[in-house]
Amino acid sequence: MKIAIINGPNLNLLGKREPEIYGSQTFEDYFDSLKNQFPNVELTFYQSNIEGEIINFIQQSGFHCDGIILNAAAYTHTSIGIGDAVKAIAAPVIELHISNTFAREEFRHQSFVSPNAKGIIIGFGLQGYALAIQSFL
Ligand code: DQA
Repeated sequence: MKIAIINGPNLNLLGKREPEIYGSQTFEDYFDSLKNQFPNVELTFYQSNIEGEIINFIQQSGFHCDGIILNAAAYTHTSIGIGDAVKAIAAPVIELHISNTFAREEFRHQSFVSPNAKGIIIGFGLQGYALAIQSFL
């Protein structure tokens, strides 16, 4: 089972960025614990702050893995291109948000990813990534 995790803009700052919303753990640390939790899953992790790079990675991994966990961060709410890429690929995509976007500003309630996602995990903190992996098993 091959699963790709893709994180979008500003998620490279996890641990430092608004810890009251996103927690104080870095994603690299959490990713190590995920690998230990799921030793039989081939996990890859990609982060970019650049919309086109995220689209490229969705295209590249989207025909070679069993599932994608996508936290497109702010691009979730703005990017038709990322939404189209999710629709274009073969692999099922779980949309994920660390925070409960529906409890936040109204502009975070809109998602271009959701219509083409297999499912959505919102508001469970970093633990959401483990829940998403479990849903693929
Ligand atoms: C986020 C929620 C988005 O609204 C925000 O722009 C992010 C992170 C989350 O994981 O909670 O950068 O996707």
